Amino acid sequence: MKSCLKYFVLLLYINFIEGSFRCDYKYSSKAQAWFKFVVIPANWFDAQLRCSQEDAVLASPTTPDILAEMRNVMNRSNPEYEIFTGIHATVSQGDYYTIEGSPLSTIAVPWAENEPDNMNNTESCITLNGNGELADRPCEVMRPYICYRAESSQVEVSECGTVDPEYHLDKRTNKCYKFHTEPRNFSRAFLACSAEGGHLAIINSDVEATVLRELFAQYPVDKLLGNFRKDLAFIGFYDWGEKWVYRTIHGEKLMKAGYNKFSPGEPTDIDDERCGGIFRSGLLIDLWCDRPAAFICEKNPGYPAVCRALL
Ligand SMILES: *[C@@H]1O[C@H](CO)[C@@H](O)[C@H](O)[C@H]1NC(C)=O
Ligand SMILES: *[C@@H]1O[C@H](CO)[C@@H](O)[C@H](O)[C@H]1NC(C)=O
Ligand SMILES: *[C@@H]1O[C@H](CO)[C@@H](O)[C@H](O)[C@H]1NC(C)=O
Repeated sequence: MKSCLKYFVLLLYINFIEGSFRCDYKYSSKAQAWFKFVVIPANWFDAQLRCSQEDAVLASPTTPDILAEMRNVMNRSNPEYEIFTGIHATVSQGDYYTIEGSPLSTIAVPWAENEPDNMNNTESCITLNGNGELADRPCEVMRPYICYRAESSQVEVSECGTVDPEYHLDKRTNKCYKFHTEPRNFSRAFLACSAEGGHLAIINSDVEATVLRELFAQYPVDKLLGNFRKDLAFIGFYDWGEKWVYRTIHGEKLMKAGYNKFSPGEPTDIDDERCGGIFRSGLLIDLWCDRPAAFICEKNPGYPAVCRALL
């Protein structure tokens, strides 16, 4: 009995000290945080958006340990190489803060030579170079960046393999789903699902159409705030540039994917309706790609893999 109790306490302890997060992030025990280097350059706004959609933030060198790990991850020593940090003044020019809200004055990192200069009064985003120095740059230029997530052992990874509590497993399809009530255009909806480790939902059977219909029913019209159509949501199919031939975002024709039931009168021959959606009825519709709508993401519980923080 006593040893049993001991074991129980040990288990609790392990749960308490160990955190986990998606494996495309690397844990640094020194900085007590997860880091992911994104090599493909993006402008500051897109960099910020991608990190936040992954339940992380754009990294800023707020402590010597975080700075050291950022330089380690960046793995460059030449001063010409720069990455975006989360330090920005995009709300009010000149008022610099990290994404988490620490003012620039608390960042103990030197400026590069001749920086900051606010060249042509257009520079509101801060970069870090391979020498570990800061510079101000226009937010519209492209730079690689690092996403950062402070370790928090309080946050549980769910059965859906994510820290996002809004993904729920459905036993009928063995997939997880999340209904996004904030309207996005098709491209942004795609980005949001993808950054969450999933993709816009693909219907592979009548059962799955029922699952989505029931999910949609949990979001009655008065739960969807904003000026957009409340009777439909984007899901993962579009015409790939060939009107009338709809394929899933994974390239399969709808019939082959397993569900091809359009609502009566759909799809229409309106040229601009090229992106896929679902009505509350569970039947399909073609939609304007650039008009924001609610959307449904789907996620495989085992992807992306979840890693334990090794402390
Ligand atoms: C850092 O870069 C060097 C040279 O480009 C490479 O050999 C090394 O493997 C890199 N280290 C890491 C940890 O990526
Ligand atoms: C700054 O403005 C000047 C004059 O308008 C222009 O010639 C120069 O190219 C600009 N520099 C940058 C970096 O945008
Ligand atoms: C989608 O929305 C984003 C952000 O609002 C916008 O930048 C982008 O141009 C839009 N794309 C399309 C295809 O409408």
